Amino acid sequence: MSRLLITGGRALYGEIGVQGAKNGVLPLMAASILSGGVTVIENCPRLSDVDAALEILRHLGCEATFENGAVTVDSSAMTGWEIPDTLMRRMRSSVMFLGPVLARCGQARISMPGGCELGPRPIDLHLEAMRSLGAEIREDGGNLILEGRLTGGRIDLATPSVGATENSMMAAALAQGTTLITNAAREPEIRDLGRFLESAGVRIHGAGTSTVTVEGGKLRPFIRYRALPDRIAAATYISAAAAAGGRIVLRGVEREDLTSVTEAFTQMGVGLTFRSDTLEVAAPGELKAPGTVVTRPHPGFPTDAQPPLMAACLRARGSAAFVETIFENRYRHVPELRRLGGRIRVDGRVAIVEGPCRLRGAQVEATDLRGGAALVVAALAAEGTTRIDRLFHVDRGYENMTGLLRSLGADAERIDGKDT
Ligand code: EPZ
Repeated sequence: MSRLLITGGRALYGEIGVQGAKNGVLPLMAASILSGGVTVIENCPRLSDVDAALEILRHLGCEATFENGAVTVDSSAMTGWEIPDTLMRRMRSSVMFLGPVLARCGQARISMPGGCELGPRPIDLHLEAMRSLGAEIREDGGNLILEGRLTGGRIDLATPSVGATENSMMAAALAQGTTLITNAAREPEIRDLGRFLESAGVRIHGAGTSTVTVEGGKLRPFIRYRALPDRIAAATYISAAAAAGGRIVLRGVEREDLTSVTEAFTQMGVGLTFRSDTLEVAAPGELKAPGTVVTRPHPGFPTDAQPPLMAACLRARGSAAFVETIFENRYRHVPELRRLGGRIRVDGRVAIVEGPCRLRGAQVEATDLRGGAALVVAALAAEGTTRIDRLFHVDRGYENMTGLLRSLGADAERIDGKDT
């Protein structure tokens, strides 16, 4: 099993490039099915979630390759319409292939999603949206079969689900007629999917706002698109510099996508200077607790940045209160942070950090993707050596994290084993 050894206490200095957005490229890879031609997605990070999406595309009969930071998909010979159960279990966001497959093939088969490490992850909003476009849905063992030639309709999302918004937009792109999506999620990755579809010739308006309209039609047979930078990876490296101290520069950031994150770090006394697409992060001598951080759909504070920010708050003076409103079970990293000396109380969706905490190296294990990132942040600020096991969680969403941290001066060493 891969593990990471970090000996903390060293401030970070230097410049790193921010990877392409995991949550941006995954929907683009799903959308590559819609054209029936060739799609090239540039600025793609090398991640295990991207590998899983490549496997799904190949399982469906597409040619899908990854080289030099770009994914190329030829979906002309696509024959399949079943999203493989093994991959649905491995990557819950595989559900975002549902809309494109159904829209392209007139049918789709998907296994009922298990929960995931963040709690039950239902797909009721996705199914409701497909029904609104004319799909018939029936159960078949542990699977769901969706059938129907999609026609434009009205999709009123009960909650602004990111994935359900993306599935709706992609399915609507091939549905006959106009689709209206209300209460749509407004994440930057949704805006980017809208730009991708527009570049492919789809008439779409309002992507990135609460109301999106899509005119169904054909997509261009060749699409080349550059994915946006990963705002959560950026937030993670800001957390690392805040916790460890020092001064780093992040290259390739979208300022407008980081507003709620930069507000929290500014409250902590972190110096943040944007210059075109770079961000300089200067850690203060002493961090201050940011007060209360409530996770919200965009443009609120992103739930994915909660664990790394919490880790940075361990080094801040004062109480930091977190309210996790998006996922039921997003504090699984807390017991592991406590093993490093973190003083954190959890009561349901609220977590209170009493800082500053004296952090000492320990053996810990990643519980999920962003929880694992939180352990890395805390280890950088801990005295002594921390061993982080179950690194495969972190590999899902962070490209070359060990190499980047080492380039910033961290004492980090990856011990590669056979991942279970
Ligand atoms: C996306 O997940 C992201 N994943 C998540 O990032 C992110 O945390 C989440 O959006 C919220 O921003 C990708 O983009 C691949 P949701 P998604 O549908 O689409 C409930 C990471 O760390 N819900 O907006 O699955 C759901 O249970 C990952 O990179 C329903 O009830 O998130 C959750 O409580 C983690 N029914 C809430 O909505 C549904 O049909 C938000 O889920 C769908 C969702």
